[in-house]
Amino acid sequence: MNYANITGWGKALPPAVLTNDDLATFLDTDDQWITSRTGMKERRISNVSVSELAYVACAKALACAGKTADDVDLIVFGSCTFDELCPNAASNVQRLLGATNAACMDLNTACTSGMYSLTAATAMIRSGVVNSALIIGAEVISPLMDWTNRDVAVLFGDGAAALYLEPDENETGVITESLGCFGESREILSIEGWGAKYRDPKRTLCDINWDFHGQDIFKRAVEGMTKGCLSTLEKSGLTNEDIDLVVPHQANLRIIKTLGKRLNLDSDKVFINIHKYGNMSAATALVALVEAIEEGRVKPGSKVLIPAFGGGLTWSSHLILWGDRCTGLSEIDIEVPASDKTGLEIIQQLLKH
Ligand SMILES: CC(C)(COP(=O)(O)OP(=O)(O)OC[C@H]1O[C@@H](n2cnc3c(N)ncnc32)[C@H](O)[C@@H]1OP(=O)(O)O)[C@@H](O)C(=O)NCCC(=O)NCCS
Repeated sequence: MNYANITGWGKALPPAVLTNDDLATFLDTDDQWITSRTGMKERRISNVSVSELAYVACAKALACAGKTADDVDLIVFGSCTFDELCPNAASNVQRLLGATNAACMDLNTACTSGMYSLTAATAMIRSGVVNSALIIGAEVISPLMDWTNRDVAVLFGDGAAALYLEPDENETGVITESLGCFGESREILSIEGWGAKYRDPKRTLCDINWDFHGQDIFKRAVEGMTKGCLSTLEKSGLTNEDIDLVVPHQANLRIIKTLGKRLNLDSDKVFINIHKYGNMSAATALVALVEAIEEGRVKPGSKVLIPAFGGGLTWSSHLILWGDRCTGLSEIDIEVPASDKTGLEIIQQLLKH
């Protein structure tokens, strides 16, 4: 059976920045509280749709792998903030790329969607169902955020990343993973108003209320990611000493630190970028992985552990054995279009609605 090597990677971050000080102009909060409780300093707010963000990330991943759109057999789009539910978002990315040979599917496990997409595509390549895949973790949460609720509004941001996978006879790519879900506690993180269940003549579409129990989510995130990592290490016959780099989902710096203590991880081995982007849900772990590669933290043959957690409450932990290439084969001159508004101006417009 083949392995599924990761040969291309790319990220797409919206240019508009929303700082903690910006948030403090319309919420009862301040930079000191947000920084000390979450580790976040700023986040991005998208001026384009989630499909357009995903397209930019995919175009970069393809160039990095030295491939063209014709080479793509499958697109798996991981997100919980799709522009529309039917037709799906992966088909929109297919059209934007011109990847006419690709099968297209959307996958929603909230913040873990990018990682579950990696599992789905890896399994389909390893079993021979497809010969290549683009997987996406992308989220444009800002239009669905309740910007009057400081409990959640300070935590999230928009972004996207994509990976290109292809078969390889050598052991590489995802070697082991553990997946799970605490379904019995699913209501502690729910976006009321987002889905057919909320069809109600008194409600307008996207009349959103976040039911968000931060402290409970915090505890379950630590529990889920710890459980996932221990299970993955056990299945692979490795210990934390064998891991070269941990790239965790970035929901709160204190969650990451608590996880590090539980697993007895050397903090030098833990990749952090939460200060720049906040929690980008499905995009978070993949953007962090792409930046870890770009910053030279991932080396040929590195063993990379990626724990993640999200609504559902889903959890995951992937062990990746990196291949022999950490630089792209080529580059493409494409970026998210410039925004004519600042992050704060985009939010002010959303608040008016
Ligand atoms: C949300 C979270 C940051 C809250 O941190 P916390 O230390 O647990 O804070 P608490 O909920 O105990 O709130 C402490 C106080 O700060 C206040 N507070 C909450 N949000 C605030 C904000 N943005 N600015 C200022 N004060 C705030 C609360 O009202 C509370 O005040 P009180 O003591 O007078 O009642 C934290 O629980 C968390 O990150 N949870 C995980 C959530 C997550 O990211 N989930 C995504 C899925 S992975």
